[in-house]
Amino acid sequence: MQTLRDVLQQAQQRGVAVGHFNISDLVLLKAVFDAAQELRVPVLVGASEGERAFMGVRQIAALVKSLREEFNFPIFLNADHTHSLAKAEEAAKAGFDAIVFDLSALPVEENVRQTKEAVVALKSINPSILIEGEIGDIGTGSEIHESAPDLSKGLTTPEEARQFVEATGVDILAPAVGNMHGMLRSMVRGEAKKHLDIERIAAIKRAVGVPLTLHGGSGTDDDDFRRAIQAGINIVHINTELRVAWRRGLEGSLAKKPDEVVPYKILPPVIESVKEVAGSRLRLFNGNGLIARAV
Ligand code: G3H
Ligand code: ZN
Repeated sequence: MQTLRDVLQQAQQRGVAVGHFNISDLVLLKAVFDAAQELRVPVLVGASEGERAFMGVRQIAALVKSLREEFNFPIFLNADHTHSLAKAEEAAKAGFDAIVFDLSALPVEENVRQTKEAVVALKSINPSILIEGEIGDIGTGSEIHESAPDLSKGLTTPEEARQFVEATGVDILAPAVGNMHGMLRSMVRGEAKKHLDIERIAAIKRAVGVPLTLHGGSGTDDDDFRRAIQAGINIVHINTELRVAWRRGLEGSLAKKPDEVVPYKILPPVIESVKEVAGSRLRLFNGNGLIARAV
């Protein structure tokens, strides 16, 4: 079975990116897994601190492990946006494949100091775990926002990126390159798109020798995604788009069957609704099926 490190290396060689989708229930997990399995591409599922608290840290790990083993399929698990060493250690002990250690809200010197310590501590629990560090400002909350925050002062420079990676020893870097967590209402309606600073991504890639993650993927222009992946993005995070599809699918299913009370009869259309979004993003990140099947 391939490791996540192998999968990221192959993605870099093939010029594709690994899709990362956040989950907080079994509907989302099934939808993402079904989409990846149908397209035969590796996939990462992520759970932030809130998502983990809802599902249970060890319970999510057990579910993902059981899918990986039963179907011999490269599905990996990431502890997304983890803000303390204690929570990161909990995830590492539960068997997560990767951890986003996110102290990007702290002054950069403090972020460097604590991330460096966390890399050592987490690798002592599992030497093959991958640690992602974050710098810059991409806002918070995979939700629908009323207005866009001004993130222009928090963009990552190539020099900051190089220094951060060298000083901390992180395996993966998440920079701020015009991306933003969550979606504006206009994006949910499909009337506006996020745009990325492709030149900045390329310059950061030249400055660091590690894989790059693009957070805040929901609502991003398709062509910007393609160019960002060509410029060096290896993982793309999508959350809000799945949450919107989950809610719409649930509302539609309940409206169609107002008297139904059986969860396994109400929820399949919700899985379909989420699967459609995850599948279309996975096709885009993996070269619209033009690249040889990865799995
Ligand atoms: O870590 C999660 C993501 O960065 C998701 O961002 O909700 O804008 O897709 P998004
Ligand atoms: Zn994120």
